[in-house]
Amino acid sequence: MSSLPVLGHDAVLAAVSPQEAIERVRSAFLAFHRGDWTMPAKVYLDSPPFGDFRAMPALGGGLALLKWVTSFPGNPARGLPTVTGVICVSDAATGEPLLLLDARSVTALRTGAVAAVAAQALARPDASTVGIVGCGLHGAWTARCLAAAGYGPGICFDARPDAAAELAAQLRWRAGKRSDALRGDVVCCVTPGSEVVVGAGDLRAGLHLNMLGADGQGKAEATLDAVAACSLFCDEWEQASHGGELAGAVEAGLVARDRVTELGGVLAGELPGRTGPEAVTLFDSTGLAIQDLAVAAAVLEVWREGRIPAQNVTL
Ligand SMILES: NC(=O)c1ccc[n+]([C@@H]2O[C@H](COP(=O)([O-])OP(=O)(O)OC[C@H]3O[C@@H](n4cnc5c(N)ncnc54)[C@H](O)[C@@H]3O)[C@@H](O)[C@H]2O)c1
Repeated sequence: MSSLPVLGHDAVLAAVSPQEAIERVRSAFLAFHRGDWTMPAKVYLDSPPFGDFRAMPALGGGLALLKWVTSFPGNPARGLPTVTGVICVSDAATGEPLLLLDARSVTALRTGAVAAVAAQALARPDASTVGIVGCGLHGAWTARCLAAAGYGPGICFDARPDAAAELAAQLRWRAGKRSDALRGDVVCCVTPGSEVVVGAGDLRAGLHLNMLGADGQGKAEATLDAVAACSLFCDEWEQASHGGELAGAVEAGLVARDRVTELGGVLAGELPGRTGPEAVTLFDSTGLAIQDLAVAAAVLEVWREGRIPAQNVTL
């Protein structure tokens, strides 16, 4: 048997910069929109009362990927990360496994990257300031990717003031209250989604909201009336309408399919984005396997060029 390279968390982050992740993720959305990349909806496997596992496959660019990843919201209290898992990248022509990857680092990079892609596509062209609500792992990478895309300065808010202060210090931004963060041009919510952090009263003309934390059933970061009042966008309708920020408003009959535009169509210039400077846009990110494939393909290239070392296992 040939040997299989295994790349850990630090190797992934050394291989792909936030800027590179943003470009790759944008291209992946375009390839998916064209139908060149394919992706069945992710499968959730609940593990009550702890959290859930997700199986996320995607095919594109000569590669096939499966991510086996978790969301266990109670883990931080036990000193463990909310999101962990493994990615397997295979050759789409032979089925041969090519690479095993840490899923946590890939997920963090691609989640931050889509926040930047959505902001570039949907926020006002003159948008600059950022608000981050929820400064854990994915909030931090969202902030880093927005900074890499030229946004900032920003205000970081977290229920744990230390987490907000640490992230703000890293980026030379500022920590503040929730209401301060919500005054940004681009506001990103990346909390566990167990309590609402945006109400209808927080909406201002011209705001762009990236809702990233509610990526499974029963999670929400905005009230239903706030969601229904926005101009709505999502990464992928099936996922977003069943297990995303939009799901509650869809279930309540406040939002129908024809009110929601997928990001890929906007990026391709085929579907309308922001209608004007006064619009309040909301992007619902549930997290797509094509985003993981985009980052994993970049890691594979860097490893093949000999720019990062890997551990090897023989199956
Ligand atoms: N959309 C996606 O693609 C995607 C990808 C990965 C993770 N997620 C989701 O994002 C969420 C966050 O994941 P994480 O790994 O960053 O978790 P984390 O535990 O590292 O961070 C969550 C942060 O939110 C803070 N927080 C909790 N309640 C808050 C509140 N009411 N107001 C402000 N801050 C609050 C916590 O103190 C913590 O710092 C999870 O729900 C996860 O499932 C989404």
